[in-house]
Amino acid sequence: MREYLQAPLLGLSKAHGSKATVAIRGTGSYVPPRVVPNSFFESLVDTSDEWIRSRTGIRERRMVQPGQALTDMALPAAERALEMAGIEASDLGLIVVGTVSADMITPSAACILQHRLGAKKAFAFDVNAACPGFIYALSVARSLMRENGLEYSLVVGGEVISNRVDYGDRSTCVLFGDGAGAVVLGPSNGNGEGEILSIHLHSDGSLWELLQLPGGGSRNPPSQEMLDRGMHFLKMQGNEVFKHAVRSMVEAAQEAMEANGIGPSELDWFIPHQANLRIMELVAQKLEIPPEKVIVTVDKYGNTSAASIPTALDEAVREGRIKRGDLILVDSFGAGFTWGAALFRF
Ligand code: ACO
Repeated sequence: MREYLQAPLLGLSKAHGSKATVAIRGTGSYVPPRVVPNSFFESLVDTSDEWIRSRTGIRERRMVQPGQALTDMALPAAERALEMAGIEASDLGLIVVGTVSADMITPSAACILQHRLGAKKAFAFDVNAACPGFIYALSVARSLMRENGLEYSLVVGGEVISNRVDYGDRSTCVLFGDGAGAVVLGPSNGNGEGEILSIHLHSDGSLWELLQLPGGGSRNPPSQEMLDRGMHFLKMQGNEVFKHAVRSMVEAAQEAMEANGIGPSELDWFIPHQANLRIMELVAQKLEIPPEKVIVTVDKYGNTSAASIPTALDEAVREGRIKRGDLILVDSFGAGFTWGAALFRF
C-alpha cells in the first residue's frame, strides 16, 4: 500500500518508533544578494558568457561576501521555514544540516544554527553527502523523528562553495554558487499535504576521485604545501561526472516512482539537482517528464550543491507554482559518488 494512503491520525509523539508519516510543514530559503554574472569570469580565465550559457545553462550565481559563513544563510532560510510552518524554534526536536561547507570543521553547522535559532530542545548534527546532502538529511531526520517520537524537525541544505573553487580553473569556477534552503518536518495532518512518500539513497565510493576537495582533512591536513598545491579547492572530472550523474539520477527517479506505483504523467513537478541544465534536460527526457514540469533555477544560482533542491522548492512554493497537494519528485547526484531521490506531496 502506498505510504500516503496510510496517513496516521495521531501526531508523531504518539507514534513513537512506528512508521508514522512525516510531512513537510514549511519551506524557506536564502541566497546572498551579491549577483555574479558570467562576464565576471572572462577576465580571470579563458571563457565566455556564451560558453557558460550554452554548456551549463548558467547566466549568473550568488556569492557570499568575505566573512559570511553557511549559518549566516541557513539562519534566515530556517526562520522563513519555521514561519511558514507556524511553529517556534523551541518546538524543534532535531536539526540536520546537509552540507560540505559548514562554518568550521567542528562544531557542526547544525549546532551553531541551533544556538542562533534558540532551538534549545533540539539535538543537532550535519550530514556530509555533497549535492544530495539535502535528500540524505531529509531521510535521516525522518527516521530519527519516527525512532524518537519527535514532533518537529528542521532540515537544511546549504553551501558556501564560492570560496572553495580555484578561480584559475575554468572547468570548475564558473559552475558554483552559494545558498541555503530549509524545510520544517512535522506530523501529517491526515489530508496528504506535505507527506513524504519514500526516499531512496545510494553511494559508490569506488568513484570518489572523480569529484573531491582533498585538502584540510586528516589525509592532507592544513599546511603551506597543501595551499601551494591548491588542494583546498574542488577538483572535478566534469565529463565523467556528467555521464554518471545522468545515469544515476534516472535510476533513482525510476526507483522512487516504481516504489509508489506511479508514472511520470502523475507527477506535478520534478526538481532535479541544479548542476547543469543539460544534465537536467537529459534526465527529464529519459524519464519522459515534460520540460514544463521541471523546476529550473540553475540559470540564476548555478550549482549550489546541497542547497539546490530546497532553494528551488521554496522558490516555486512562494511563487505559487507549487501548490499544497502537488506530487513532487526530487533527484540529486554528487561527490562520493552519492545520489538519491525522494517523492512527496507538498
Ligand atoms: N570555458 C570555456 N571552455 C571550457 C570551460 C569554460 N568555463 N570549461 C571547460 N572548457 C573546455 C575544456 O577545457 C575542454 O577543452 P578542450 O576540448 O580544449 O580540452 C572543452 O571545454 C570541453 O570540456 P568538457 O569537460 O568535455 O566539457 P563539457 O561539455 O563536459 O562541460 C562541464 C563541462 C560543464 C563541467 C560538465 O561536464 C558538467 O556539468 N559536469 C557535471 C558537473 C556536475 O554535475 N556536478 C555535480 C556534482 S557537483 C558536487 O557534488 C559538488
